[in-house]
Amino acid sequence: MILALETSCDDTCAAVVDGPRVLSSIVSSQASLHERFGGVVPEVASRQHLELVNGVVTAALADAGVSLADADAIAVTSGPGLIGALLVGLSTAKGLAAASRLPLVPVDHLHGHVAANFLEPEPLAPPFLCLVASGGHTLLAGVRERSGFEPLGATLDDAAGEAFDKGARLLGLGYPGGPAIQAAAEAGDPEAFDFPVAMSRDPGLDFSFSGLKTALVYRVRELGEEATREATPDLAASYQRAIVDQLIGKLRRAASSGEWPAVALGGGVAANAELRRRTAELCAELGLRLKLVAIELCTDNAAMIGSAAGVLESISYPHYLSYDAFATDRNSLRPS
Ligand code: KG4
Ligand code: ZN
Repeated sequence: MILALETSCDDTCAAVVDGPRVLSSIVSSQASLHERFGGVVPEVASRQHLELVNGVVTAALADAGVSLADADAIAVTSGPGLIGALLVGLSTAKGLAAASRLPLVPVDHLHGHVAANFLEPEPLAPPFLCLVASGGHTLLAGVRERSGFEPLGATLDDAAGEAFDKGARLLGLGYPGGPAIQAAAEAGDPEAFDFPVAMSRDPGLDFSFSGLKTALVYRVRELGEEATREATPDLAASYQRAIVDQLIGKLRRAASSGEWPAVALGGGVAANAELRRRTAELCAELGLRLKLVAIELCTDNAAMIGSAAGVLESISYPHYLSYDAFATDRNSLRPS
């Protein structure tokens, strides 16, 4: 049984996981705190993690009906993410582990999003193709074994979630932008505006979203304040369509190789209803197994970190005490 912590961005998370079983998963979102700034303020996030983390750990243990003495290991996200935020989780995890002489399992956040698919119900076993799209990352992962993945393509600039967040900010829809755009889009026509779908003629598996955001900036400027307000549902629906079109286009290209019997989604953008619907259509068309995890396992959570930790080597006490967090992607994600 593993106690897992996740504090890479603006959610303070702890979970208790036993193999594919989630015994508890607590997520204390700071979104409302950051909303007035239109995005996550790193220093505010770190301080808030510090305030919340002990209570969240206590709640996760209580919810699972276990105590720290029952844990076999402590897992924690070591990166990538906001460095100050990561350090709160890592220091807390080191402290908890060291006090009980437990081993520590540092987990890559992106591996966590992939590993959410290993959890019940209906755990997915490799090989599969996983589109990971979040606020900080967008990549296609070829998953051949549980302990890692091969990045097949990634965004060259903004992440898909970032495009949602920046678009929502431009349209005055608040933070986080993904759910806000999705809600506004429900009343809109996705064909009302013609936004560019980047990289569609590019033969590779990389993504690009910065041009789309710029296109929205120009469109909003052209329309002016009042017309933008009136057209917000159409703008949201068309903008969402352009993001999802690109994601599905690349997913289709990767899935068509015939190498992958199943397709999965991960990361906060995997909560998007339109992306889920279109991925299901794609899998039906290509005859591939589809795995969609519950919404609460798409957005940041610690259960996915516990899931990844269960298939990784742990570091025994006291060797992890000098282990450091990392802010940006490492190239160590390929299975060796
Ligand atoms: O994985 P996540 O919780 O945190 C990061 O690792 O970044 O992803 C957060 C991102 C945000 O950009 C948020 O706007 C987006 O996921 N998101 C969505 C939806 N729910 C969250 N994007 C589109 N549609 C949604 N329903
Ligand atoms: Zn994430």
